[in-house]
Amino acid sequence: MIPVPEEIEAYAERHTRGMSDLHATVWKDTYEKTKSPRMMVGPLEGAFLRLLVRTTGAKRVLEIGMFTGYSALAWAEALPEDGRLVTCDVNPETTKMAQGYFAKSPHGHKIEVRLGPALDTLKTLQGPFDICFIDADKTGYDAYYDACLHLTRQGGLIVLDNMMQGGKVLNPTDDRVRAVDALNKRIQKDPRVENVLLPVRDGIMLAYKR
Ligand SMILES: C[S@@+](CC[C@H](N)C(=O)[O-])C[C@H]1O[C@@H](n2cnc3c(N)ncnc32)[C@H](O)[C@@H]1O
Repeated sequence: MIPVPEEIEAYAERHTRGMSDLHATVWKDTYEKTKSPRMMVGPLEGAFLRLLVRTTGAKRVLEIGMFTGYSALAWAEALPEDGRLVTCDVNPETTKMAQGYFAKSPHGHKIEVRLGPALDTLKTLQGPFDICFIDADKTGYDAYYDACLHLTRQGGLIVLDNMMQGGKVLNPTDDRVRAVDALNKRIQKDPRVENVLLPVRDGIMLAYKR
């Protein structure tokens, strides 16, 4: 994460509409039962994703990287009754956990889960999506961005998480960070989108498809 003073992050959270009780359960269980709980987007970014759906009036959202379902529930809770989230992941154990929470959520019926490598899943999907969210393996981001540009409607949004890599993009020393830095530069030059890179959490890139 970008080193924002802890009290500033806490202040931002205190002045942001909170997440659902089910989110609190997902958060607690994920910390107790998985090795990488910090992969969850958390309450601040979750609230931001939720607001993206509400302000854009999105009805179809695609998520790449579901983990235990925290962000998926944020999307689903904001979608209208006839809205749909397609979310995918490659990990069967965390997918099972996520499906358990979706079954308990009054918004679970809006969520379609695809288990398997994202690139295989993306080939089977038909657009257009209003929002595509990329939050999986960083070396795959470049290909996910291309696929999402194809699947997103004109006037839709592509949202990419972890685009600051804890600040390491300033001086990339490994393949993962180099890949993220190269994609930031590619998006910045891409005439097909209008973009903004927000220094929120670990860096959120928003790319609006023209
Ligand atoms: C950062 S986590 C997603 C966090 C989630 N959005 C949340 O807020 O809880 C990244 C996820 O991407 C998944 N992943 C990694 N490689 C993948 C691939 N090739 N295809 C699909 N999912 C993949 C991992 O299993 C992991 O659950």
